[in-house]
Amino acid sequence: MTISRIMEKMIAFSEGNIHDIDHFIRVWTYARIIGELENIDDETLFILEIAAITHDIACPLCREKYGNTNGKYQEEEGIPLVKKFLSGTGVSEAQIERVAFLVGHHHTFTGIDSADWQILVEADYIANATEKGCSEQSINNFIQKIMKTESGKRILQSVFCICAEEDDIVEDIHDPCLRFQR
Ligand SMILES: [Fe+2]
Ligand SMILES: [Fe+2]
Repeated sequence: MTISRIMEKMIAFSEGNIHDIDHFIRVWTYARIIGELENIDDETLFILEIAAITHDIACPLCREKYGNTNGKYQEEEGIPLVKKFLSGTGVSEAQIERVAFLVGHHHTFTGIDSADWQILVEADYIANATEKGCSEQSINNFIQKIMKTESGKRILQSVFCICAEEDDIVEDIHDPCLRFQR
């Protein structure tokens, strides 16, 4: 199944929740742009794009089951959901396992050791920051503490017309813009 077909399937899965649909379309866009600018290989880009499209697949279930979209619940519930979603789409078992890992870690900012995981986290933050209107301090903090790709940093700074400055760094990364990411 092509990326466009997977996108079409995910739009249908979202059952008219326009906020959810707009969110994953924007995360996918940022992830693809950063992935290409960082020259990741085609296979990694394919997996990254599928993960970006499906990363919040557990949000509807979490709202229903827990009354919130806590990141840890999303990660736990998202793994079986995305495996089921991708079965029969022609995506290989190995690719599905990798996408499931990424969905299961997209709110985890420690131990990031791969380009697909790193870029997914960066793309999701950019999309969330534009939705919530995060403070310049929060954005600069994320750039300094979490972001690793130069293109991700440039894009985030460009979106908000800011430059990262050392004086803006705060020690506590657990600010609301991180805690309540979708
Ligand atoms: Fe999420
Ligand atoms: Fe998200």
